[in-house]
Amino acid sequence: MRSAILGTGSYVPEKVLTNFDLEKMVDTSDEWIRTRTGIVERRMADKDTPSSELALRAAKKALQMSNLTAQDMDAILVATVTPDHMFPSTACLLQHKLGARKVMSYDFSAGCTGFIYGLIQADAMIRAGVAKYVLVVAVEELTKITNWTDRSTCVLFGDGAGAAVVGPAKDDEHGILSTYAAADGSLGDLLILPAGGSAMPASEETVKKNLHTLHMAGNEVFKHAVRQMEEAAIKGLELAGIDMKDLDWLVPHQANIRIIDFLARRLNLPMDRVVVTIDKYGNTSASSIPIALDEAVRDGRIKSDQTVLMVAFGAGFTWGSVLMRWQ
Ligand code: ACO
Repeated sequence: MRSAILGTGSYVPEKVLTNFDLEKMVDTSDEWIRTRTGIVERRMADKDTPSSELALRAAKKALQMSNLTAQDMDAILVATVTPDHMFPSTACLLQHKLGARKVMSYDFSAGCTGFIYGLIQADAMIRAGVAKYVLVVAVEELTKITNWTDRSTCVLFGDGAGAAVVGPAKDDEHGILSTYAAADGSLGDLLILPAGGSAMPASEETVKKNLHTLHMAGNEVFKHAVRQMEEAAIKGLELAGIDMKDLDWLVPHQANIRIIDFLARRLNLPMDRVVVTIDKYGNTSASSIPIALDEAVRDGRIKSDQTVLMVAFGAGFTWGSVLMRWQ
């Protein structure tokens, strides 16, 4: 039995931070940010709104679209690198906020590949009969781990949440056709939040040195992202036995428009078959794919029977893809 996405939902905070706002904060320009990344503006959660609140709003919309309720869920999985707390998990907070049954609920960290990893777990649970319906949520408030004095990272990130209700597909032709995931921890230092964990507990010094914020060797990460996203896309197509020319939609992780352009070219896809939201929301890490997917489903671009390939790359490093026939 295949699994399928039965409903999607997303939520981004109202507050907008434009490139022009950033020009006043660091030595940068709207022109540099647009041409080097494709970002025009991004959303920012206020200080009293934790990740679980964004997750709640996205999850409710996904449940509504699926015509199921929180009570129907057999598991709640949350992909995030910006949980409300180290523990309890944001998934447990969400389980309570949604009024779900006391079902298995946990967070996991796969950087920007989080939603892909989450779908793969949900698919496996459903196929194995461990769960019938799984709520997969990706939520990030990266603006809360941003170093606002580092122009090479602070212009890139935004906040938001995306969710999917995963359940049995209507038949064997629809739903998730292939999954592919990989990781390579040897390069983890290139994209890291150094302090606050057991390797470097919080101290006055870690705060002074800005070690509770995201550090990224952007150039290096870029090279790996391009290579591994292409690998994940090709693998996804091969495993599903789908030819490139039969692909209807690409929903890639939104880290940089240049990476997205490159991937589309390699797959021979015109850009009007690629869902792009990076201009509006920047890089929202794990949330970027489900937010883009939800927008394209709701505005009618993604239709029944079409093939949809989602591809991501992120901290870890992690990368992967999920290929579906939309039902
Ligand atoms: N404004 C103006 N100039 C800047 C800025 C800025 N905001 N940021 C960097 N620069 C300068 C640099 O200082 C450098 O100047 P120099 O040549 O005088 O030293 C110059 O611009 C070029 O810097 P690069 O880092 O080489 O710029 P690049 O073209 O690589 O773009 C970027 C940087 C946007 C970060 C890019 O490398 C990137 O997108 N990396 C990949 C990120 C990614 O893929 N993430 C995916 C997974 S991770 C995740 O999503 C959390």
